[in-house]
Amino acid sequence: MMVCLGNICRSPLAEGILQSKISDEHFVDSAGTGDWHVGQAPDKRSIQVARNYGVDISGQRARQFKPSDFKEFDLILAMDDSNYDNLLKMAETEEEKNKVRLILTPGEIVPDPYWGDERDFENVFQILDEATEKIAAEYNLK
Ligand code: 4NP
Repeated sequence: MMVCLGNICRSPLAEGILQSKISDEHFVDSAGTGDWHVGQAPDKRSIQVARNYGVDISGQRARQFKPSDFKEFDLILAMDDSNYDNLLKMAETEEEKNKVRLILTPGEIVPDPYWGDERDFENVFQILDEATEKIAAEYNLK
């Protein structure tokens, strides 16, 4: 489960890129900690940069992270420290807390490209491409 703030820029990309690298046996999803964009398709710039690399995320629709996701998913990956803190606050048990980690190493974040331009989305794509490669290897998802 990939989590960012709005579920329209970063986490839809993270979902699409990871799913494109691994088998369909593994279900990848994404959500936002906020609810402003619920029901919306990903940001056009995320759809475009993914398309440039052969990944189609246009069918995704934003949703808000919900408490039952802690039970549904084995691994919950936050894009930045704020997403991470919000998830830890929502977690009710140690088991739930232990499922949450940053998608990058501590101290490194996936920068929010929402107020940026195409170059920021390209940068996010590259960061997530590398990060999801490591996740797929670490958790034997291929
Ligand atoms: P995301 O980007 O968290 O990567 O989906 C954002 C999208 C929308 C907003 C902030 C970040 N917003 O403030 O509406």
